[in-house]
Amino acid sequence: EGKRAIDTSGLLKQTGLTALDYGYVNTSSTQSWITYINGDEGILRYRGYPIEELAARSTFLEVAFLLIYGELPTKEQYEAFEQRVTRHTLLHEDIKLLFEALPFTAHPMSVLSSAVAALATYYEDSLDVHDPESVEINTIRLLAKIPVIAAYAHKKSIGQAFLYPDNSLSFVDNFLKLNFGNYAEPYEVNPVLSRALDRLLILHADHEQNASTSTVRLVGSTEANIYASISAGISALYGPLHGGANEAVLTMLADIRDSGDGVARFVERVKNKEDGVRLMGFGHRVYKSYDPRAKIVKQSADEVLGALGVHDPLLEIALELEQTALNDEYFQSRRLYPNVDFYTGIIYKAMGFPTRMFTPLFAIGRLPGWIAQWREQNIDPRSKLGRPQQLYRGSGERHYPDGREFI
Ligand code: ACO
Repeated sequence: EGKRAIDTSGLLKQTGLTALDYGYVNTSSTQSWITYINGDEGILRYRGYPIEELAARSTFLEVAFLLIYGELPTKEQYEAFEQRVTRHTLLHEDIKLLFEALPFTAHPMSVLSSAVAALATYYEDSLDVHDPESVEINTIRLLAKIPVIAAYAHKKSIGQAFLYPDNSLSFVDNFLKLNFGNYAEPYEVNPVLSRALDRLLILHADHEQNASTSTVRLVGSTEANIYASISAGISALYGPLHGGANEAVLTMLADIRDSGDGVARFVERVKNKEDGVRLMGFGHRVYKSYDPRAKIVKQSADEVLGALGVHDPLLEIALELEQTALNDEYFQSRRLYPNVDFYTGIIYKAMGFPTRMFTPLFAIGRLPGWIAQWREQNIDPRSKLGRPQQLYRGSGERHYPDGREFI
């Protein structure tokens, strides 16, 4: 891969030495055979295939198969996989009570992580992480049911009835219908939206050891079931420094518009670190050049808004913001470029998704990656319980004061 590594496993035991690495900037927690990133050159490949080729020519379900099983499927394998995922889209009726119990204002990411953790309770006879058949069926269930849960979180938030999945539709079309269809009128899927969403999901499908994937692996390393692991990954994705950035970008663009201050003033605030404000959708721990996914998303934004005849002033603000930042020494010297989240929200908004659904869309996209990484760890003989060290800097031994009586 080109990265040089020192294998420090066992170092502490042998030498008493440990590495202090805030944010794991220098620490490889695992070997992996799934996704390759070269952050300096802006390269992303799933199982060796460049992201540009997959985004242009594959489908999300095919990419899911590729990530999870390691190879592109044959036609028969693809059809069987698609059919299995489709057949598992129904949720147990009782789980709908969980949605009823939550306020309609609930953030869909909270709903999603809760419901995914709760899914495990319906499958307690097949949670054995060492049983390949259980792992397989849970893989299919998660791929099939998480989009339905996300769509129900949306429906709940707007006070509309949950639709049953329509198994005559493709994966993405079904998801669009579950979100935007209703019982009063027929719903026609717009093929432009469908293809654009499929492509966005492909772009999000894996990104090696990011915060949410590392969370999935860490929880998985305790041999907790795959639902618990993925639910934890969803929680990690929620934060604005990770998947929540797509929602934060749109809020930022709307704030710039509403403040009337203009882009230049906002960029000054970022550079001066006023109130800790950051340019959301910019910067990345690994990419120190243009995020290859962001290039595709930007192009997609033009296409989708054009095809839908949507004129969104937020897109103009985003374009101006990008240009201003790319020409500014602050961003250049720190090698800050747009990341995948910078333009996605504008597309999701044009599709009709409310801002709070943006991160759940990311979660649906990232799901095959989480599953593939969980499974890879699960069968890797070198895997062990994840348990970082710390350097204790607190007080030395002291004693509970004699005569302390107020408790
Ligand atoms: N806006 C302004 N300044 C930034 C930004 C930003 N978006 N990102 C980094 N910087 C600055 C930091 O302030 C720091 O400057 P300093 O040296 O003067 O203190 C320098 O660049 C290095 O930043 P770090 O925080 O050390 O970089 P790190 O790798 O830890 O951060 C992160 C990566 C969290 C993604 C950061 O770039 C960020 O906060 N971006 C905005 C949130 C975002 O878009 N997140 C999505 C990431 S992609 C994903 O998860 C899908």
